[in-house]
Amino acid sequence: MKKIIHLSDLHIGHEVCGSRFRAIIDAIIKTKQPAKNYIILITGDIVDNANHYKQTDEAVGNIDLLREHGYRILVVPGNHDYGNGALGNKKFVGLFKEKYYGSRDISYPKLDIIGKTAFIGLDSTAEELHWHDRFFSEGELGKEQLKRLGEILKDKRIADRKKVIYLHHHPFDFKAGMQLNDNKKLRKIISNKVDALLFGHYHRDSESAGKEYNGTWGIPRCYNGGSSTHKNGDIGFQRVIDLSRSDAGNDYDAEFINNSATVHFALC
Ligand SMILES: [Fe+2]
Repeated sequence: MKKIIHLSDLHIGHEVCGSRFRAIIDAIIKTKQPAKNYIILITGDIVDNANHYKQTDEAVGNIDLLREHGYRILVVPGNHDYGNGALGNKKFVGLFKEKYYGSRDISYPKLDIIGKTAFIGLDSTAEELHWHDRFFSEGELGKEQLKRLGEILKDKRIADRKKVIYLHHHPFDFKAGMQLNDNKKLRKIISNKVDALLFGHYHRDSESAGKEYNGTWGIPRCYNGGSSTHKNGDIGFQRVIDLSRSDAGNDYDAEFINNSATVHFALC
């Protein structure tokens, strides 16, 4: 089974975040492990401000570089991928699909069945583009997306597969104004039904190696990636997840870069 490298909140375009992402890429490429052994999954805020098209071009260029080296990349948008983080614009919904997936004809939940794992990507930002949403950035999935998610989880094609759900916003109730708006509805649909729930958005979470949420909603692995490029020195991980092992204790932070941007080589 392929391992997952979970990255989040790269914020390319903000200070040195772009060069830190390049350091992560270089470290991944330089390891001797075959690319086909890994899925690289990025849970949003890939760029810092989508209004600056250069940032998206840089992000896509670097992701394409990983693809050229044989890595499979899965991404979902965060609030910064649809605007400046506080104020979004609907035009970026289609643009994100075109740039990162190569087609606007994509809908969420985005299901990718890769080997023995079903990856289900959610867009927690598209329902957050109203004028009043600028005051908070909690994220919302919306009725339609949640309905389709319920249907996908009943799909016979994924019945015997591991299931990974990934989205940008924090799904748990930990701080008023920051939690996913419809997290209770999400809980009803996915509790005890999936193997991993991966997200980002909140950079200051995960003081205890990011494993404090494991087991929440009956889901063995619940990981906040934080800011993998350590925007403003924030907490974040470049976590390697091995779903073939039942013990989440085997998952680890690869530390391709750390808070001082030191490069390590830690794929095993
Ligand atoms: Fe972020």
